[in-house]
Amino acid sequence: TQVEKGGYKHFMAKEIAEQPVVLADASRHYLSEDGLNLPEDLDFSKISRLTLVACGTAFYACSVAKYWFEQLARIPVEIDVASEFRYREPPLPEDSYAIFVSQSGETADTLAALRYCHEKVAKTVAVVNVPTSSIARECDVALPILAGVEVGVASTKAFTCQLLVLATLALKAARDRGHMSEAELARHMDALQSLPALMNHALALDDTLNEVSNELSEARDVLFLGRGAMYPLALEGALKLKEISYIHAEGYASGELKHGPIALIDSHTPVIVFAPHDALFDKTVSNMQEVMARGGKVLLVSDKKGLDVASDGVWQTVQMPEVPDLFAPLLYAIPAQLIAYHTAVAKGTDVDQPRNLAKSVTVE
Ligand code: G6P
Repeated sequence: TQVEKGGYKHFMAKEIAEQPVVLADASRHYLSEDGLNLPEDLDFSKISRLTLVACGTAFYACSVAKYWFEQLARIPVEIDVASEFRYREPPLPEDSYAIFVSQSGETADTLAALRYCHEKVAKTVAVVNVPTSSIARECDVALPILAGVEVGVASTKAFTCQLLVLATLALKAARDRGHMSEAELARHMDALQSLPALMNHALALDDTLNEVSNELSEARDVLFLGRGAMYPLALEGALKLKEISYIHAEGYASGELKHGPIALIDSHTPVIVFAPHDALFDKTVSNMQEVMARGGKVLLVSDKKGLDVASDGVWQTVQMPEVPDLFAPLLYAIPAQLIAYHTAVAKGTDVDQPRNLAKSVTVE
C-alpha cells in the first residue's frame, strides 16, 4: 500500500505527529489489563547479562534502555554499535540474552552481529518494525514495535516505539528478577500509558520550536547536553539535527562538558539542554550555568518546576509537560525531533531524503 503524506509537507512531519497514535497502539498491544503481554519463555530471572546491539537511532534507543534495565531489573547491560560489536569477538555468557533493535530489520551490520550471537547466548531477541525482515526471522523471539511504515530517512516514530518495547522488557525483567512489586509494576504501566496524551501536549509546542529553530538554522555548531537517560537523548537530538540540517552537532553527557566541549562555547554556539526536573536536575543546571558563564546561549527544555528555578539568563526556554522521570526520554524525543525538523526546513534541505543517507543500510 502506498503511504501518503496526508496533508503534511514531509513524511518526517507526519511521522513525528503520528507518535501519540502509534505509541498508544503499541501500548495497547504490550500493556494489557492483566499485565505485560510478552512471551513467557522470555524469562530474565536467571540471566547474567544483556547485550543490546543496533545502529544509528536504534542504538540510542538501546542506550536509553540500558539505564532502565540496570535501574529497574539490576541486570548488567552491554551496548554497542553493530559495526564495532561484530568484529570485537566479544565473549558472551551462555546465560545471557542478546537484543537487536532495528527499524528495518535489514541493517547489514546488525544482522551480522546477530549471526555472531547465535549459538553463543541463551536467546536472541529482535525489536523491529518490519516483522517479515531478516533480523525478525533469524532471532529466536521477534517483538514488533508496531510503528507502521516509516518513510523519512531520519527515524522518529520508530525510535519512540522501540523505547516503549524496551521499557516493557525492562519491566518484565524487573518483575522476573524479584525487583518489582505488582503495585510498582502497575504504577510504571500507568506511566507508560500516560505518554501518548503527554506527547500531544509536547506536539502543541510546534510553533515555539519552529521559532527557536529559525535562529538555530544560523548556527554552525550546536551542542546537546543531558544527564542520565537524557544523555542518549542528547546524542539522538544531535544525530537528528546533523542528519537533516547538515549543521554540525554533538551530544554530550553534561558532566563531561568540562572535559573538552566547554572549549567550544561562545555566543555563536547554541547549547540545547534536556533537563526535566528529576533527581539529576540540579547537577545539569550547574553544568548549564558553566556554559552561560562563558557567554554561551542556552536553550533549556524542561518542565514548569525546572523552568521556575533555572530560567535566569537562559536564551530560550521550552516548557514541557511534567512526565514520570523514568520515561521522560520518550516525551523529550518530540522536541528533539521537531527542532531538527524545523531547522532543516528553515535551511531548505531535503528533509525526507537527506544527502548521502539511506533509510536502510543493507551493505556494510
Ligand atoms: C540508517 C537510517 C537511520 C537508522 C539506522 C539504523 O542510518 O538513516 O535512521 O537509525 O540506519 O537502521 P535500522 O533500520 O537498523 O533501525
